[in-house]
Amino acid sequence: MKFATKAIHAGQSADAATGATITPIYLTSTFTQEGIGKHKGFEYSRTGNPTRAALEQCLAALDDAEYGLAFASGSAATAATLSILRPGDHVIAAADLYGGTYRYFEQVAKPGGISFTYVDGRQPEEFEKALQSKTRLVWIETPTNPLLQLVDIAAVAAVCQARGVRLAVDNTFATPFFQRPLAFGADIAVYSTTKYIGGHSDAVGGAVVTSDRILHKQIKFFQNAAGGVPGILDAWLTLRGVKTLAVRMPRHEENAREIARFLQAHSEVETVYYPGLPSHPQHELGARQMSGFGGMVTFQIRGGREQANAFVKAVRLFSFAESLGGVESLVCHPATMTHASYPPEDRLRRGITDGTIRLSVGIEDVEDLKADLDQALLASQTKIIQTR
Ligand SMILES: Cc1ncc(COP(=O)(O)O)c(C=O)c1O
Repeated sequence: MKFATKAIHAGQSADAATGATITPIYLTSTFTQEGIGKHKGFEYSRTGNPTRAALEQCLAALDDAEYGLAFASGSAATAATLSILRPGDHVIAAADLYGGTYRYFEQVAKPGGISFTYVDGRQPEEFEKALQSKTRLVWIETPTNPLLQLVDIAAVAAVCQARGVRLAVDNTFATPFFQRPLAFGADIAVYSTTKYIGGHSDAVGGAVVTSDRILHKQIKFFQNAAGGVPGILDAWLTLRGVKTLAVRMPRHEENAREIARFLQAHSEVETVYYPGLPSHPQHELGARQMSGFGGMVTFQIRGGREQANAFVKAVRLFSFAESLGGVESLVCHPATMTHASYPPEDRLRRGITDGTIRLSVGIEDVEDLKADLDQALLASQTKIIQTR
């Protein structure tokens, strides 16, 4: 089956009990058993539930993976992945990371005895240099949040494989539609399904997919033991959302590309970060490992916090909100929102300033989106002129 077909059918055959064509919302915490040790494959919904199982199978299929596990959020999926580590283990992570992932690493995993080295993910040799005898895991995001840097998955996978180190890729921005990390040698793909996979900003969720039986077993054990599973309704909403992933992603990309070009030519914009622009320093790598560049565009507004604030207050179609990946366009101020958990000096060192603005470009008519950005950019600068 091809991708678009799998998104609609994988794990989702007609319901065995009733023939329901669409996977039912099995809103039950428990399952009546016929006798001791005799049941229909489900006992208790933390351990397994048919609606969640359909989602897990579908997500595995989209990455051409053997196994999928669904979680209560992308953050729960991150925590579950790190559960394969033990005190004393070392992790190498690419430095440009979602703020919540960095917070988990620094404030939860580190006090638990795991050490971290952060490297410039754009330089695969940096991973090799950072290897220690206790290195067990390399963690990358590509494209990164929020600066849309790329990491060469195959090159980093080669470093990891040579040393028996596991490679996890947070593939939230690209989705399996545009990029399949396992095909480039990664061991695990991690998702916040809250974003493009769900696609409608109405459910929070996460996923871990892998083809490695041992990793799957360890992470599944943690899923059941720690219990960070999605509610059944959220699992169903995500399953419904994923059905249209293959039609949404090309439109997100088309709009994002157009908006990136528009911003690049705008007088009130200093820099645009979008891997689909030929001027992006890693455009060629993107073309090699991704089949499309996605719907996220980040830019530096002319000025700083004051102009950024005037801009986010002036947008009308774009919502000023956390999150990304929904059909509607969102704007976010990473320094005070998604990346607020970074200490300010760390944030600045990574290139996230008070003038950095991240757009999640939706699938509305792109002319409306451009008009909205244009008026908000002009309004952001008018304010400065007025206050001068
Ligand atoms: C790249 C990335 N990974 C993980 C997460 C965490 O996902 P969640 O908010 O579903 O916990 C986010 C959230 O914004 C994200 O952008």
